[in-house]
Order: sequence, then C-alpha cells, then structure tokens
Amino acid sequence: MSQDLAEPPDQLWAIHPAAEDDLADPPLVVAARTIKEWRRGDYLLSTDWGRLDFDVIHGFLKGAYWSPGIPRATVERAARHSLPFGLYHAPAARAHPVQVGYARVLTDYVGIAYLMDVFVLAPHRGHGLGRWLVETMLAFPDFRDVRAWLLRSRDAAGLYERSGFEPLADGRHYRRYSRHRGYGRG
Ligand SMILES: CC(C)(COP(=O)(O)OP(=O)(O)OC[C@H]1O[C@@H](n2cnc3c(N)ncnc32)[C@H](O)[C@@H]1OP(=O)(O)O)[C@@H](O)C(=O)NCCC(=O)NCCS
Repeated sequence: MSQDLAEPPDQLWAIHPAAEDDLADPPLVVAARTIKEWRRGDYLLSTDWGRLDFDVIHGFLKGAYWSPGIPRATVERAARHSLPFGLYHAPAARAHPVQVGYARVLTDYVGIAYLMDVFVLAPHRGHGLGRWLVETMLAFPDFRDVRAWLLRSRDAAGLYERSGFEPLADGRHYRRYSRHRGYGRG
C-alpha cells in the first residue's frame, strides 16, 4: 500500500457527456459484440476479434510502462472480457492487414466506460491514428448511452485532451483498492 501511494501521480482523465434526458429509452442491451470497420487511407480500424494479432499486442504491452512483463495469456484474457479495437496497416497492395495499434474498452454500456491499453506502434505515430482510434471508440454506437469515460495516463495527456477528456476535477472522491503485485517476467 505505501509503495502504491508513492507511485508517480498518473492523472485520471474523464469525459462527462450525456445529460440524463439524452439517454435512449429503452436502454440498449448488447447481447453480442458488434463488428464494425472503418477505413482511412492505408489504415483500417476494426472491432473484429478474428483480426487481432496477439503477437503484436502482447509484444507491445509486455514492454509498456503500465504492464511490464504481462503474460500473453493475461493479455488475451483481458481482451476477451473487454471490447477490443484493432488498428491495422492495410494498403491495397497488402494481402493481409498488419496490426499497428490497439485499445480496449471495459464498460457496462450505461454508466461507465474505461479505456485501456491504447497504443500505436512507433513507426505509425504522429499521423492522427491515435486520435482516430480514441474518437472512434467514443463515437461507437454500442457506447452511446455511456455517461462517463475514464482512463489513466502518465504522459499522453495531449492526445486525450484533444478528444475531450479533462483531468478529474473531483478526483479526491475516487478511491482505488489495489491488488496489483506486478506480472513478474512471465
Ligand atoms: C499515445 C499514442 C497512442 C498516440 O498515438 P499517435 O498516433 O501518435 O497520436 P496522434 O498522431 O493521433 O496524436 C494526436 C494528438 O495527440 C498528441 N499526442 C500524441 N501522443 C502524445 C503524447 N505521448 N503526449 C502528448 N501529446 C501527445 C499529438 O501531438 C497530437 O496533437 P495534434 O492533434 O495537435 O497534432 C502513441 O504515441 C503511443 O502508442 N504511445 C505509447 C503508448 C502510450 O503511451 N499509450 C497511451 C497510454 S494512456
């Protein structure tokens, strides 16, 4: 616990949309993952589970500052229990799209959505793909009734600010119970 308190002050960012009367009636019930794809130039964004390349996703996340050493099985289990979005380099000349980015959403579809594991591989950064990924998730129809989005970020504040997130003004009212002990080097 004391080590937890000494962690660098990662900022919690939140976006607060939907007023009460904006909510759809009856509430949306999602029985299955909606598969949807978007194209922009040579890139493809997709919610299709079948396209995900866990060599690439685990390859990045095991070295990310928020999940060092995370086992591949944990990455896959987390994806299975969230709504993953894959970003792919998919020029017409390439037979198979190649995964270059990823993010996933944890949500109850009405109250809250938590954005996690956002990344774009280094050679593809700086072209607006991160923002496209985040804003596509925010606009995704299945999430239209979500009242608040949350995420935790150490140094990508610029990306999230541009998409409408702001530091949590009432952060002092939030509490965290942490059981994270690290993933070891598995
Ligand atoms: C953060 C990340 C996903 C951004 O991807 P990207 O495709 O390069 O982002 P974009 O090109 O869409 O940038 C959108 C805006 O956010 C800003 N931005 C991007 N990354 C940023 C960062 N690390 N810090 C501050 N601002 C950043 C850009 O300057 C850009 O601003 P602009 O619209 O004024 O030009 C990518 O740098 C990455 O994967 N980083 C490593 C993993 C990581 O830190 N993920 C976030 C965890 S919360």
